[in-house]
Amino acid sequence: MEASTRAVLPPGPPLPKLLQTLGFVVSPARFFDACRSRYGDVVHFKTLFDSGFVMVFDPTLVKEIFKGDPDQLRAGPANELLGPVLGERSVLLLDGAEHLRQRRLMLPAFHGQRLRSYERIMREATDREIDSWPVGEPFQALRSMQALTLDVIMRAVFGVSEGERYRELHRRIREMLDPISQPLGVLVLTLSLARRVRGGSTVQRFEERRRRVDELIYDEIERRRSDPDLADREDVFSSLVLAEDEDGRRMTDQEIRDELVTLLVAGHETTATALAWAFDLLLHDTRVMEELARRLADGDEKYADAFVKEVLRIRPVIPGVGRVVHREPFELAGYTIPVGMEINPSIASIHRRPDSYPAPAELRPERFLEDDPPDTYTWIPFGGGTRRCLGASFATFEMRVVISRVLERATLEAVEAEPDAIQRRGITMVPKNGAPVRLAQAPRAARIAEAAAA
Ligand code: HEM
Repeated sequence: MEASTRAVLPPGPPLPKLLQTLGFVVSPARFFDACRSRYGDVVHFKTLFDSGFVMVFDPTLVKEIFKGDPDQLRAGPANELLGPVLGERSVLLLDGAEHLRQRRLMLPAFHGQRLRSYERIMREATDREIDSWPVGEPFQALRSMQALTLDVIMRAVFGVSEGERYRELHRRIREMLDPISQPLGVLVLTLSLARRVRGGSTVQRFEERRRRVDELIYDEIERRRSDPDLADREDVFSSLVLAEDEDGRRMTDQEIRDELVTLLVAGHETTATALAWAFDLLLHDTRVMEELARRLADGDEKYADAFVKEVLRIRPVIPGVGRVVHREPFELAGYTIPVGMEINPSIASIHRRPDSYPAPAELRPERFLEDDPPDTYTWIPFGGGTRRCLGASFATFEMRVVISRVLERATLEAVEAEPDAIQRRGITMVPKNGAPVRLAQAPRAARIAEAAAA
């Protein structure tokens, strides 16, 4: 503790906590940019929800943080808000050797080769969604993408695809997730749990819903463990059941449950939101829309890849990641950050830096096709270091598959003249009105060759 009293903290706005909180909630981009130009690339903030933390706006310093000792800069405590949903063995909540072990066991399911096997699932889920869209009526791209990405997770991650089991699991997952994807949902739940409002309706209802999802997952784990053909299955669930660490130990039932729920929570809303932003931006930018459609028609996927990267740059779904200082104070840019304080690389602000991204507010996928494209520390929508998002390739692959299928089969148009406003919802930044879109005419059939093959 002596160390923390000696800490030299970075400067920050001398505003009361309430005003700083308002800055975060009402207009984060303006507030951060103003603080950055006044106090520099490392700023100390205090809001009503914390006892002070440090935000970082410079890619070189972000590199130091992402490459720092993961035992000194811990992500687990920064993610603890999600604890009641994910469970204590979740890879998001663990640190040190335990985190590394879980991560290694999960990694093979997300390798490139495996992703290709999910392509059909992703394309078929897109087709089902396209076929459900009304012609000429506005609907929310966000809602539609939420349904689509949940369907993909159910099939590719859980490996449950048809019949009553699919419907029941789908229903119970929705019941559990819907309340926490509301604005402040996770916060309300955590505060209720922290205050131990046992018998309080929020906690009781949530725990009951989680128990109903767990019941099905544990039942499914038992089935998989006794399935002689498990090794032939390609879903993530089966690969978690089979995975072994260096000592030949497999995951416990609880570990499998916690990692599956983690993949669901980490992968479903995030990818849906990124896709909703992709359509919102695309339908408001004729130049990029025409270029993307032309390149895809030529069989060139590079531009689609660059477009996805640019969407995640200009509308990062998660605006910042956290690392809490552990064991001894952390030295950064001449400051000493004390034990227990969170350091937060600001993804959104780093993506807006004009020195890395000239005309940062402009949608310009070409940035990622130039000779010297943005690197791992200037483009950080998936965080970094040993905690970098496990599903990054899965998400960008899914985005490419969905976007190209939609452009191939449907003519969408924007409902509003301007792109949607950005709103904070839980830990994500979503289109405020759900990115309203409209289908201009009935969708086209899938390509003839494909239909024949089917
Ligand atoms: C566009 C979609 C997505 C975005 C923007 C996103 C973003 C992130 C971010 C910022 C982190 C924290 C990284 C850090 O602390 O440095 C993270 C972690 C994680 N994400 Fe994603 N994610 C997305 C999709 C997915 C998907 C599809 C999955 C899996 C199916 C997934 C699974 C995970 C897991 C397991 C972690 C924890 C990694 C660890 O702590 O070792 N994410 N993600």
